[in-house]
Amino acid sequence: MKVSVTTLALRELDVDLLIVPVAEDAPAAHTSHLIDVLGPEVERALADVGGKKDDDALVYPAEARAKRVLLVGVGKAADADAERVRHAAATGALVAQKRETTTVGFVVPDLPLDGEATGQALVEGFSLGGYRFRRYKTAQGAFDGPQRLVLHADAKERGARRGAERGRVVAEAVNAARDLVNLSPDDKTPTRFAKAVEKSGKRYGYEVSVWNETLIEEEKMGGLLAVNRGSQEPPVFIEMTWKPEHAVNEKPIVLVGKGVMFDTGGLSLKPTKNAMDFMKADMAGAAAVVGAFEAIAKLNLQVHVVGLIPATDNRPGENAYVPGDVLHMHSGATVEVLNTDAEGRLILADALSYAKTYRPELVLDLATLTGAQVVALGSNVAALMTNPRNDPAARVQALREAGQRSGDRVHPLPLDDDYKEQLDSDVADLKNVGGKEAGCITAGKFLEHFVSYPWAHLDIAGPAFLQSAKPYRPKGGTGFGVRLLVEFLRDRADPRKRS
Ligand code: BES
Ligand code: MN
Ligand code: ZN
Repeated sequence: MKVSVTTLALRELDVDLLIVPVAEDAPAAHTSHLIDVLGPEVERALADVGGKKDDDALVYPAEARAKRVLLVGVGKAADADAERVRHAAATGALVAQKRETTTVGFVVPDLPLDGEATGQALVEGFSLGGYRFRRYKTAQGAFDGPQRLVLHADAKERGARRGAERGRVVAEAVNAARDLVNLSPDDKTPTRFAKAVEKSGKRYGYEVSVWNETLIEEEKMGGLLAVNRGSQEPPVFIEMTWKPEHAVNEKPIVLVGKGVMFDTGGLSLKPTKNAMDFMKADMAGAAAVVGAFEAIAKLNLQVHVVGLIPATDNRPGENAYVPGDVLHMHSGATVEVLNTDAEGRLILADALSYAKTYRPELVLDLATLTGAQVVALGSNVAALMTNPRNDPAARVQALREAGQRSGDRVHPLPLDDDYKEQLDSDVADLKNVGGKEAGCITAGKFLEHFVSYPWAHLDIAGPAFLQSAKPYRPKGGTGFGVRLLVEFLRDRADPRKRS
């Protein structure tokens, strides 16, 4: 989709659909201007909608060049944050899909939010809300989604232009991550997934190196190898590098993504319904890391970032690892497996222990790690856990703010040491499952055992994949984490520039 910004007269904007966000308390001058320019039909619709949040009306103005005008209420201007604007834009995207409009315009609303943030939110909400995964549909309709999006801005033109461009890049990266999650498991075996990442690296200009099983054995990644044992396909370990010339950080920020391409549970087999049936999404952490790399490379963010993805599936094949197995991990620690379905922490532990070789400034991992996360926080907010090194409070605050601004929200959970007792093993250094209490936290405590640098863990089990659509997040893969990472890294690259 082509995105542009114009200051041409609104009346002349020749689009199939013109989307006009309106605040409840929009100044009379603004609404009367809209009526002047777009005609009396708009006046009646404005009276109906009155700017009420989540209310909208579609009108067919006789005088304007735009074929249709959609008014979308955003509530009180002072409360209209980026998320509210994304929601309004997503309402527009639904109408655009339904009416099969190819060209779409937006009137950039005059809100307390600055032009850049407004432009970005409009484009994100529209592109994310219009996302459809059609890859396996054999009956392709003639309509291939809107092709052109024009933002009409007056005073805020320059900001809107920057924001719109960033929104386009970010939304494209989120949608790419969604595609990876929605892909059939058979089309994303570890090897195929690695090929897709290599292709992405070539296209966006970051480096990718893929380790095969032999290299993984040489590195003694006992967790990744054990999880892979019941599988027909070998594991891979993917290393990604984005090192721009003027990076602000000497030591890299390392992003680790859980890449369980399919999680059957292994011999501790999952039931099908509402459990195994969506476990193709168990690589959503990996997909988020790939999407984030695409966006940071395209935006040319001046931060040195490394990505690590341990990738395998978890299956109960003949040679599968079993409860009781003691694993020798990359770090040298031993782990007693008591449930083969707690596999994510095993492959992440190896990646986290390997991450140390980078002497990282910070390591962030993203993982669909526990059902307990979904119980605790649901599907709108990810769980955030962090270790006490190097000002954890500042880290939590930076991530929460990036979450709030980007729409990928996170909420902190404690990692106090008494939770670790649940992981005491009779025979090894620790076991891979705790008791029934605080499952999201005990998984975090397990990971912390393998970490020796500033670190934050994001359990994205709920937000990564939806069973029913939410505004601008269709059913299925959501690409959760991409926007959060981009916002967080943008802030790191240039804290003054944030909007
Ligand atoms: N991939 C699952 C976690 C998951 C659950 C992701 C629901 C998305 C939605 C993970 O590998 C898993 O199976 N976790 C177990 C851990 C348990 C055996 C300690 C869980 O949460 O039940
Ligand atoms: Mn599992
Ligand atoms: Zn899993």
